[in-house]
Amino acid sequence: MSRPIQIVPSVLPADFAKLGDEVAALEAAGVDVIQFDVMDGQFVPNITFGPDVIAACRPHATVPFEAHLMVYTPEQMAREYIDAGCRRLIVHAEACTHLHRVLGEINDLGAAAAVALNPATPANHVAHVLDLVEMVLVMTVNPGFGGQQYIASMEPKIAEVRAMIERAGRGDAVDVEVDGGIGPATIAGAAAAGANVFVAGSALYRDPDGLAHAVADLRQRAHAAV
Ligand code: DX5
Repeated sequence: MSRPIQIVPSVLPADFAKLGDEVAALEAAGVDVIQFDVMDGQFVPNITFGPDVIAACRPHATVPFEAHLMVYTPEQMAREYIDAGCRRLIVHAEACTHLHRVLGEINDLGAAAAVALNPATPANHVAHVLDLVEMVLVMTVNPGFGGQQYIASMEPKIAEVRAMIERAGRGDAVDVEVDGGIGPATIAGAAAAGANVFVAGSALYRDPDGLAHAVADLRQRAHAAV
């Protein structure tokens, strides 16, 4: 059974000086979930924001929030991101010494757990945690910055992750998300490979016809590819 297509903006290219208005505009543009790219300057060579900024945005939108935790020891602040209003927490397999335990803790806190894989990390690193997540994020760039080139060689890995999920009997419960370089020229390849949740940042903000057009265009291209 194919999972529903979702378009998820990254707030990275948004104007951080008016982030509340920006998330309201993203909701008005028809997005399904809003992703906050949390970076600690250690796991990735960039620093963005913490839970207080996400909490400040929460009242400005009603769509679910997810935190993409590009941080080491994400479990240390999991509760804060949930209290800030995130429904889903995405942790990196590479950043967790005890990934199985961290995902279980996120679920026990009442949030939805998801796991991300950097481009060099094999799909089988999530083989034993598929029962603990509602989503696997296959990074299609090396994390840390928006506006990077889509790594098309990740498409076989997207397909491998989707196949693993189906083999585990979790095909109706687990989404495959992609993040990095997703736009009009790349979303079809990612969708055809098996992704159904698409994170886009720069592609949304550079559309001359505006956010709503960009969201609808990406959604249509993803549907046409599956
Ligand atoms: C990577 C970031 C970006 C961002 C989207 O660290 O997480 O992938 O979300 O960036 P674009 O869509 O501009 O490539």
